[in-house]
Amino acid sequence: MPPLMPAFAYQSGQLCCEGVAVPPLAARFGTPTYIYSRAAIRESFERLKRRLADVHPLVCYSVKANSHLRILSLMREVGAAFDIVSGGELARVLRAGARGESVVYSGVGKTRTEIEAALAAGILMFNVESEGELELLEARARALGKKAGMAIRINPHVRASTHPYVATGQTIHKFGVTKRDALALYRRAAASPDLRVRGVACHIGSQILEVEPFLKALDELIFVGEALRSQDIPVEFLDLGGGFGIRYKDEIPLDVGKLTRGLASRLKALPYRMILEPGRALVAEAGLLLTRVLYVKRNRRKNFVVVDAGMNDLLRPALYGSYHQIVPAERHGRIKLRADVVGPLCETGDFLARDREISCPRPGELLAVMTAGAYGYVQSSNYNSRPRPAEILVSGARATLIRPRESIEALMAGEVG
Ligand code: LLP
Repeated sequence: MPPLMPAFAYQSGQLCCEGVAVPPLAARFGTPTYIYSRAAIRESFERLKRRLADVHPLVCYSVKANSHLRILSLMREVGAAFDIVSGGELARVLRAGARGESVVYSGVGKTRTEIEAALAAGILMFNVESEGELELLEARARALGKKAGMAIRINPHVRASTHPYVATGQTIHKFGVTKRDALALYRRAAASPDLRVRGVACHIGSQILEVEPFLKALDELIFVGEALRSQDIPVEFLDLGGGFGIRYKDEIPLDVGKLTRGLASRLKALPYRMILEPGRALVAEAGLLLTRVLYVKRNRRKNFVVVDAGMNDLLRPALYGSYHQIVPAERHGRIKLRADVVGPLCETGDFLARDREISCPRPGELLAVMTAGAYGYVQSSNYNSRPRPAEILVSGARATLIRPRESIEALMAGEVG
């Protein structure tokens, strides 16, 4: 079993988050519940900044990974800027006290309303993903009397080995535009009084463990940046996106030191500032999903541990076949059992683990699903009319309920019966 993340450790047989024992949190707040460590989030941001120090990047936390207001405020406090993908995320970062100039906005489907809200907020730049979007951005900027900071998101045609659903950097993917098309769009943008060319952007995918694809993508950004410079359209920022891979099971995380050396050597003597948009790497390891065992059942072929968290609470295993380590919240030293850990929903895809050796759990006991701080709560749903889980933020010896469990009544709020 790989070692647990530092934010979580056993003390006297009980799993603890910082200075708080996890099992009593279940008694106080119920399950399923997400639990995050404030110190772990802060440390992962600071560690990443330190490792990237030689390139002095603007680190824009990718809000989609975990968009809770408290976590956004924490990110702002530690000095992060923000990468958003919707009007909802814009509203969240502004509510968390972010300044518009600290926001970059990606996404292939920005609507007119979303563009107008981001213009009003004075964001740093729109990462424009199509000709149609550029036209709309220019028109809305003109109508509102604003000058829109922008980059074109290029699709660098770089392959990164990751799950196909989260690879984004090849021309079979919907994201960005080719270098050639980008150059034509930049010429139009540079000629527009309503647009301000600020950067070149890309994002090649998520949970990427190798450095090389990032460096290849950077070479493409530099190519475009230099082509623009030679045409008197200078840009300040090269935005390499996010995607820094972490360890869920036995992966070797992205070597950020090696990445930094590669970036620094390429950027030496060039006039660009890097933007990076990490999401997962800042929050995944700082969170777990606490769930209670409801039943343990066997048939002739398999064991099933039925827990009270399912695919509506944590979608990653069902959607990508993702691995999350599962450990008992109280150590008991019983023998191991090979089982599927499954939720209560009516789909075979509703599992948290398959064919997993776990310390044999009994009904009523608590399990912690680890590395769930990123793309956990944010991908939860009400499928099967299940209320969304509660969220707790731990800081030192204090646990704060930062979102109560959704009520059954709230499930139907707004419905016309
Ligand atoms: N920037 C852009 C433009 C993105 O699309 C993403 C993620 C990021 C940054 C942050 O990527 P990260 O550093 O977190 O890898 N739901 C999936 C992950 C989807 C990622 C989508 N885009 C999962 O649970 O693995």
